Amino acid sequence: MADQCTVPAVRARKGGLPLVMVTAYDAPSARIADEAGVDLILVGDSVAMVVLGYDDTLQVTVADMAHHVGAVGRARPPARGVADLPWLSYHLDAAETVRNAAVLVRAGAQAVKLEGGRKRVAMVRALIDAEVPVMGHLGLTPQSVHAMGGFKVQGRDAEAARVLVDDAAALADAGCFAIVLEGVPDRVAKMVSAAVAVPTIGIGAGPWCDGQVLVFHDLVGLGERCVPKFVRAYGSLRADGVAAVRAFADDVRTGRFPADAESYHLPADVVLTGAVGAGSGRVDASGRVDASGSVDASGRHWGADRPVVAEGSDAVADLDRAPQGVAHRSIDLRSVTGGDAAIGRPDPEVADLEEVTGLYGGVDLQAAGL
Ligand code: KIV
Repeated sequence: MADQCTVPAVRARKGGLPLVMVTAYDAPSARIADEAGVDLILVGDSVAMVVLGYDDTLQVTVADMAHHVGAVGRARPPARGVADLPWLSYHLDAAETVRNAAVLVRAGAQAVKLEGGRKRVAMVRALIDAEVPVMGHLGLTPQSVHAMGGFKVQGRDAEAARVLVDDAAALADAGCFAIVLEGVPDRVAKMVSAAVAVPTIGIGAGPWCDGQVLVFHDLVGLGERCVPKFVRAYGSLRADGVAAVRAFADDVRTGRFPADAESYHLPADVVLTGAVGAGSGRVDASGRVDASGSVDASGRHWGADRPVVAEGSDAVADLDRAPQGVAHRSIDLRSVTGGDAAIGRPDPEVADLEEVTGLYGGVDLQAAGL
């Protein structure tokens, strides 16, 4: 787990141990990034393309960003959380910019990132005046996709490189605590990094930045999109995921899942009476229903023409799936739990049964008179 990487601590890393930033959009990935010891977690507007299925980042709103910032913030990673201000949330006027940043701060961000150079200086100053730390973003700025004519490497000639240096200097002077450099030639990134006193964090900007950032999904190999050449996938979670789900499907279809140890059981002396779905029956010593139909080799109990109940837990699940069905509610749980041993008594097995009903978001047994 990373130490809290504060704004002054990030600034102090200029020219020192390279900063590590990961873009993450939800609590599990933020916790993984944190456990791996990253310095900064960016809730990027790339969520639009990586997770939400849009073709560009222009589609996400402040509310969308706040939703993801909240998820990352609730994971409480000590790694500093930076949130992207989405397109048009910081372009109109300073008051609206600060208000939008405040939404993200209240959702859990400790700093915001915005795209653009000298033309953003007024907004950067307004945010800093409102005590919101700002990270800049130059080079391939995805919110300018239409203006750039696509997601294209920027700063490819001497003049464009000089513009980048001037923009970076303006952002640093305005108070940005770090600057992302995306999609620029390595030597240009080196020149920009040398020109500013704050750390540069590169993505597709070569090795001479003060830190590097990658998107979580790309670096663990979970991404669906075609990944740019600057991405190094350190895992293959997408392939692992497909293999895992395929194995699950196979186990379900061949009756290998769930196993006995993965099922809840009624006590051995419990007898189920009354109608359950299309059938009814008693639970035998192993917890199987043994009447009104048959129990097949996999333990499923079959009524007239469909599985009605297998083990005790399945009976409850069945009850849950058709809560309005009188026949289902008519399972006599008082008798099955032994006379007056109604649901709610501190019998561990009964408690287990209650847990199952809760698990399925289930029927209110008490309300149902059970
Ligand atoms: O949105 C994002 O993930 C980013 C990084 C690529 C820097 O801006």
